[in-house]
Amino acid sequence: MQQKLLEDDDVEYASYRQRNNTTALLMLLLTTSCLLLFWTACRGQKEVLLRTEAMRDDNIYNCDLQLVESIPIGLNYSAKSPKFLSTFDAWKLLLDKANKSLDLGSFYWSLRGEDVNCNDSSAALGEEIFSRLLQNANNQDNINIRIAQSEPSDISPNLDTKLLANYGAAKVVSINFPKYFGGGVLHTKLWIVDNQHFYLGSANMDWRSLTQVKELGVLAQNCPQLASDVAKIFKAYWYLGSDTNAPIPHKWPYEYSTNYNDQQPMHLNLNMAYAMNGYISNSPPPLTADGRTHDLDAIIKTIENAMDFVYIAVMDYFPLIIYGPKQRFWPYIDNALREAAVERGVAIKMLISWWKHSDPSEDNFLRSLQDLSMERKHVDIQVRRFIVPMDPDQARIPFGRVNHNKYMVTDRIAYIGTSNWSGDYFTDTAGIALVLKDTLASAKNSLRQELQNIFERDWNSPYAHKFS
Ligand SMILES: *[C@@H]1O[C@H](CO)[C@@H](O)[C@H](O)[C@H]1NC(C)=O
Ligand SMILES: *[C@@H]1O[C@H](CO)[C@@H](O)[C@H](O)[C@H]1NC(C)=O
Ligand SMILES: *[C@@H]1O[C@H](CO)[C@@H](O)[C@H](O)[C@H]1NC(C)=O
Ligand SMILES: *[C@@H]1O[C@H](CO)[C@@H](O)[C@H](O)[C@H]1NC(C)=O
Repeated sequence: MQQKLLEDDDVEYASYRQRNNTTALLMLLLTTSCLLLFWTACRGQKEVLLRTEAMRDDNIYNCDLQLVESIPIGLNYSAKSPKFLSTFDAWKLLLDKANKSLDLGSFYWSLRGEDVNCNDSSAALGEEIFSRLLQNANNQDNINIRIAQSEPSDISPNLDTKLLANYGAAKVVSINFPKYFGGGVLHTKLWIVDNQHFYLGSANMDWRSLTQVKELGVLAQNCPQLASDVAKIFKAYWYLGSDTNAPIPHKWPYEYSTNYNDQQPMHLNLNMAYAMNGYISNSPPPLTADGRTHDLDAIIKTIENAMDFVYIAVMDYFPLIIYGPKQRFWPYIDNALREAAVERGVAIKMLISWWKHSDPSEDNFLRSLQDLSMERKHVDIQVRRFIVPMDPDQARIPFGRVNHNKYMVTDRIAYIGTSNWSGDYFTDTAGIALVLKDTLASAKNSLRQELQNIFERDWNSPYAHKFS
């Protein structure tokens, strides 16, 4: 393929040179130095065009993109803090828009209050989403709802999706990750409507993700090209879940492949206001089709690309593969951060969550990063722990009250993902991320800047605790 391209290039180039030579004779009558300039300039331009036009899409696609958040009840910010659409409103909006299809990539399901052993009135929002989905069974112009979920377990029996399937509201498939990878889960949180609009982010199909857990994601509307690209990843989940004996293809067929990646992102005109370049990455590598950037590479390249700062907000950070028979050292992200800080003087801020289920050994890895700052003056790595406040009633809610965000923002790139940062999430668990780069034509208030505003709001809030 590459060879073919180069040959075509040579043929074209030869005829181009012939034409150019004719021009040259004419030009010679004028001045020789002018000719030389002209010829060199044209030659360079022509080569660039020929080498890249086969794979590259230079179109600019419109897309309405906004950040969406769940802010747990009782987590108060000052009045002038930036505010964004809620996850609940984003999901309702997607349900309102759907008139053909809704594809849901999900981990576990507990949208109804009774799925969780506590009586909390804040489950009402999740129940509203659930009943909207269930209602699809009775709607005359019902839509095609497809749900891909991680294999149910004793802890997460996913009664919600059993009900949705039994009532005929949705088709549901489960993916057994341990069967394929020896471990892992489908950890993606993804909504796709009519292949036009989508949500991607940290929020699970859980009522707590709307009222009790802090979440960050992105809502895309009127965004068919990016939505169709993300739909290729859902298509792979659907394939694996539909047939429990389905093998993972060595090479995913063409329809799963993408033209948009770190090298050649999609050119987006966001909100009819400014330009950004974007692509969707995913994990684990066996589910990454041709052309797609692997999620770990997206993270590392984002860090490598930073010139001034890297701000990271993730629930957990471990340079380890934690699960499985033997813990293994997994230094790829850690190395990229150390290199950026030590070699390039990039300032790094890490906002990591803390709750009662946190593993205290995480402190050692974080401290070893922060300690580099003491060793060299120009090295600046700071860590804070984000703790969601709670009153005694909220404290009774199991696995609530935590910062579940998974994003990174640098001076040039916004990365919004679904994975915790430990090796497991990149080796045997399925996740997904949207990467958006500022261009020269990006507005001052681009989505990257807004993500930075969110990070700074949280970093400077009373909920971010100094770490030593
Ligand atoms: C947030 O505001 C509410 C309403 O004023 C209050 O009840 C709650 O205690 C506040 N939360 C914190 C952590 O101060
Ligand atoms: C979908 O429904 C909206 C109204 O809810 C309508 O405006 C639009 O034309 C419909 N689109 C299609 C493709 O049917
Ligand atoms: C929740 O409420 C129901 C009915 O009011 C009660 O039977 C049940 O014990 C309560 N569960 C918990 C965990 O408080
Ligand atoms: C990652 O996130 C989940 C919640 O989504 C949490 O329960 C888990 O303990 C986290 N950490 C690791 C290292 O898996």
